[in-house]
Amino acid sequence: MRITVIGTGYLGAVHAAGMASFGHDVMGVDVDAAKIDQLSRGLTPFFEPGLQDLLRENIAAGRLKFSTSLEEAAGFGDVHFICVGTPQSPNSTAADMRFVDAVVQGLAPHLKKPCLLVGKSTVPVGTAARLSEMAARLAPSGTQVNVAWNPEFLREGFAVEDTLHPDRLVIGVTSADDESILRDVYAPVLAAGTPFISTDLATAELVKVSANAFLATKISFINAIADICEAAGADIMPLAAALGHDSRIGSRFLAPGVGFGGGCLPKDIRAFMARAEELGVGESLDFLKSVDRINVSRPASAVDLARDMLGGSLMNRRVAVLGAAFKPNSDDVRDSQALKVAKALQAQGAHVRVHDPEAVDNARAVYPTLNYTHEADKAFEGAELTVHLTEWSQYRQLDPTRLLGLVTSPRILDARNTLDIDHWRSAGWTVRAMGRPSR
Ligand code: UDX
Repeated sequence: MRITVIGTGYLGAVHAAGMASFGHDVMGVDVDAAKIDQLSRGLTPFFEPGLQDLLRENIAAGRLKFSTSLEEAAGFGDVHFICVGTPQSPNSTAADMRFVDAVVQGLAPHLKKPCLLVGKSTVPVGTAARLSEMAARLAPSGTQVNVAWNPEFLREGFAVEDTLHPDRLVIGVTSADDESILRDVYAPVLAAGTPFISTDLATAELVKVSANAFLATKISFINAIADICEAAGADIMPLAAALGHDSRIGSRFLAPGVGFGGGCLPKDIRAFMARAEELGVGESLDFLKSVDRINVSRPASAVDLARDMLGGSLMNRRVAVLGAAFKPNSDDVRDSQALKVAKALQAQGAHVRVHDPEAVDNARAVYPTLNYTHEADKAFEGAELTVHLTEWSQYRQLDPTRLLGLVTSPRILDARNTLDIDHWRSAGWTVRAMGRPSR
């Protein structure tokens, strides 16, 4: 099948490579010429484990190419996947649909053969129907353009695995023919027995935002309970473990800490609330306001704990920050809670040095006034307090005894609850962790 993937960011670049590895002829398209040039040479514009190999393999096999031209894409594809971003609007909490609309506006007038537009971007419910009308209006008369929706659930850091072996496949279609096209596109996934749900356009759109709203709710729930634990002198970690053993609750996404960030959960729950308001059912999602508020307050709670650990003032104190990415195995710093904490520590007078295994360059581009280092040891040198903010596995491997020789004061705040705090304490460190008692 000839497939285009329009938008080659965190979602599209992986999807394009994944489609090619299923044996399709794929063209990845983006307006960013520098990114397209990189991808064409088999280089990934961002850090994603396994992506580079998948790209190179499929480029070498002649199944994957890239272009900046929607006109070229229109002539090439039978199926066009829309994978551009839907960030928060500059002036509201709704999703900014400019990029999605621009794809249809740029593609439809050049179409010369019947095709299927398949949206993967996370969008307000009703978008697919709207795009369907737009495409019909803009396509040359007599050219049949259908629209389907196929939400993407990939997690950054596991994007290749999630694309090649998703835990479910959801499509929204308006005809049996469109379903059959998508069954062909995803033949290897279906052959593997992956649960498959075929539904209408609006339901498929809603599946994605509902999933992200549920995940965000789970995280904010455990963080709210972490606050109660702190006030009551209880410990969130055994509590979360005990909840997780209840199979109705499950242990995943129940990790307490500084909260969720990234390019999806924060803006998706806001866009969901905005869309519900438009539909006249805003009250049904009122609880998401609390989910958002709890999450927004987490960085300030971490900063309060950090200040406490330094006796009440951060002014002129040297603080090592471990982590800048919004999550491990990613260099993505969009809406990163770690960077929000680093920034706030600095705003209260601390001299902050930030380490991250992959995200330093992206972080510097967003917050150029923070100090950064590519070497973890350099962050520790002279630190009076260390704050652990992104749960990279290499931070769990750190040797607290060796680090005693680098820091000025052995104090650490585990804002992700992934360090072995007993080990750090027995090495002589003063340790605080969000939602856990101080000792
Ligand atoms: C998310 C969804 O998981 C994915 O299905 C969707 O397609 C896109 O949005 P992603 O943004 O890659 O994926 O990140 P995710 O793994 O969901 O983590 C989001 C944030 O929540 C991270 O900042 C992470 O550190 C935080 N988190 C996650 C917690 O604070 N606690 C947890 O228990 C889990």
